[in-house]
Amino acid sequence: MNDSTFNTYLRRKAQAVNYNLQQIIDFQETNKELKDAINYTLGTPGKRIRSVLVIWCFELFKDKPDHNVDMASAAIELVHTYSLVHDDLPAMDNDDMRRGVPTCHKVFDEGTAILAGDALLTLAFEVLAREIEPAEKAVKLIGQLAHDAGPTGMIGGQMADLIAEKNVCDKKTLEYIHINKTAKMFRCAAAMGAICGGASKKQYECLCEYGLKIGLCFQIADDILDVSASSEQLGKTAGKDVAAKKCTYPSVVGIEKAREIQKKLTEEAVEALSPFGKKADTLRQLANALLERKK
Ligand code: IPE
Ligand code: IPE
Ligand code: MG
Ligand code: MG
Ligand code: MG
Repeated sequence: MNDSTFNTYLRRKAQAVNYNLQQIIDFQETNKELKDAINYTLGTPGKRIRSVLVIWCFELFKDKPDHNVDMASAAIELVHTYSLVHDDLPAMDNDDMRRGVPTCHKVFDEGTAILAGDALLTLAFEVLAREIEPAEKAVKLIGQLAHDAGPTGMIGGQMADLIAEKNVCDKKTLEYIHINKTAKMFRCAAAMGAICGGASKKQYECLCEYGLKIGLCFQIADDILDVSASSEQLGKTAGKDVAAKKCTYPSVVGIEKAREIQKKLTEEAVEALSPFGKKADTLRQLANALLERKK
């Protein structure tokens, strides 16, 4: 497909994700303050890349999305969105803008933003436990998401990211941070698609490798964009990594080397898809699109 057809296809999938998220939220009975904060945050225009990744990995095995994959793709976006709400808090990255609009704690207050994040995280697991059938599949998805979003994944990476602000950062620490804070959520998305689709162990492993590599490439792009793009383009404040002394690819290895690493990761990610043949062309195109992304 050409780039424009691909982007339209990606947007259509993202809209389906938005519809499912809205359905999930509409059914939640809670107090108005919390619901307003959740609605605001989930209503902001995220790219929904992780959710679409779940769906496209699933579509290697099945022709059309089913209820399981709809719920799994919504669940990972709930966890991702929570991670952004907390990442933006004054005690963490202290950001005022996200997805082109003021951050949750700016519109509401810090306490509400903390609780809205907690609510999104918890709700993701409730959705998986309640909606996925058979129960055995639900347990696998819950285990995968908990593993990749928790202390052995995203939270571990976020902790290391904060510690690194106060230290000189080496390449090993940098890789640890980026793999954990970001790449593991991409691996998780690919794995969830594989689980919903009934992948074999070998197929699951190939998709995990693909997900981890495009995820690392994605965070390197985020670092590069922070120093090279405008706040308008990004929908979040540019240039904040240098100001906060963050451990990033541009600061540790330089932009040129960072781009080289990205290209190599993308090639390896595409290579990991070879057992799937032509069926994986959309995922190959996604890997290349993420390498070239401008926001
Ligand atoms: C932002 O993720 C946080 C990172 C891991 C770099 P995205 O760039 O996917 O953010 P949204 O969901 O599209 O806003
Ligand atoms: C965020 O990394 C990773 C998360 C797990 C949320 P960043 O802190 O670089 O993401 P942005 O730049 O705020 O989106
Ligand atoms: Mg951060
Ligand atoms: Mg941040
Ligand atoms: Mg960033």
